[in-house]
Amino acid sequence: MLGKSRKSTLSAVSFGLILAGAAASAHAPTTLKDAFKGDFVIGAAINEAQITGQDARGDAIVLAQFNSISPENVLKWERIHPQPDQYNFALADQYVAFGRKHHMFIVGHTLVWHNQAPAWIFRDANGNLLSRDALLKRMRDHIDTVVGRYKGKIDSWDVVNEALNDDGSMRQSLWYKIIGPDYIEKAFEYAHEADPQALLIYNDYNLENESKREGAIALVRKLQAEGVPIGGIGLQNHDNLTWPSADAEDATISAFAALGLKVAITELDINVLPTGGHQPTADVTLRIEQNKALNPYVGGLPDSVQQQLAARYADLFRVFLKHRDVVSRVTLWGVSDGDSWLNNSPVRGRTSYPLLFGRAGQPKPAFDAVIRVAGKSTGN
Ligand code: GLA
Repeated sequence: MLGKSRKSTLSAVSFGLILAGAAASAHAPTTLKDAFKGDFVIGAAINEAQITGQDARGDAIVLAQFNSISPENVLKWERIHPQPDQYNFALADQYVAFGRKHHMFIVGHTLVWHNQAPAWIFRDANGNLLSRDALLKRMRDHIDTVVGRYKGKIDSWDVVNEALNDDGSMRQSLWYKIIGPDYIEKAFEYAHEADPQALLIYNDYNLENESKREGAIALVRKLQAEGVPIGGIGLQNHDNLTWPSADAEDATISAFAALGLKVAITELDINVLPTGGHQPTADVTLRIEQNKALNPYVGGLPDSVQQQLAARYADLFRVFLKHRDVVSRVTLWGVSDGDSWLNNSPVRGRTSYPLLFGRAGQPKPAFDAVIRVAGKSTGN
């Protein structure tokens, strides 16, 4: 769908900068989606308030800046299929209608995951674990129903989410334990049958770390050798100010590109808050006790950190842009800082600043830095 030719958005940006004059807070009158037009689509994960029109300020940002959406939660199994015989399509239908109305690249997230998946999936009416065949049937029914409903409307599915451990071995989820390692193959086959046109993705975090990346490469090679219809890899990119390095990001994208996959940056955010001693992870189950030292910027982000964040965003976008031939999408995990999961995870009740738009919806210095990256590579 994308021409991948750099077009001259920069002249508009430069013009805007000239118009903006010396005003330090001025922003070039351009948008993320225009800045990266022809390179990759640029998306945001949207929440219920944005899907239902309750967050007018958030929606205005989404419509002005982004040409792709991901559902933060409404397509997860626990939300769309909470009981064996009950599907809740209302919000998912609104999500898809929102994207179609605005001609956006619509992402489905996620079909097979071990989190935000109800316990009943894996058990029979007596509470016993299902057999392999029974769980495969349940997986197939779910995929047929959900992917089938949005056939031709959802452009790309995160088919399997987070199947690997940090050391690159297979996560011992109930999907794995009951079905065996080929649960991944089956999920992709079912999704492909339900919508042969959709781009099917394997999505995970920390693939910039070598051991996990090697595991993912081995997994992809195995799927490809078996003819499994995997079209892309999703690099979540729940990042922080030091991890991953631009070099690691670059090497990771190259490694998956070499396998012939499209690369999607699926859940980008950059955490500026202290880690509390844990390694970077997107594990939604991690919980750390709140204390003042872990929540240092309640009154606002100091300018020095704001600038570090801007520089980090610029570094990463430089890498994405370098790989625009294979990077088909860059999605931020939220619209503005107040929406981010990082306000409540892994520590509850923090004031977090991981995105390009601040709590009042204002573009941050990181936004300007990202726009400038788009401009620079035109050579103008
Ligand atoms: C994971 C999931 C996402 C989301 C994020 C953080 O990365 O894939 O759906 O839950 O964690 O919220």
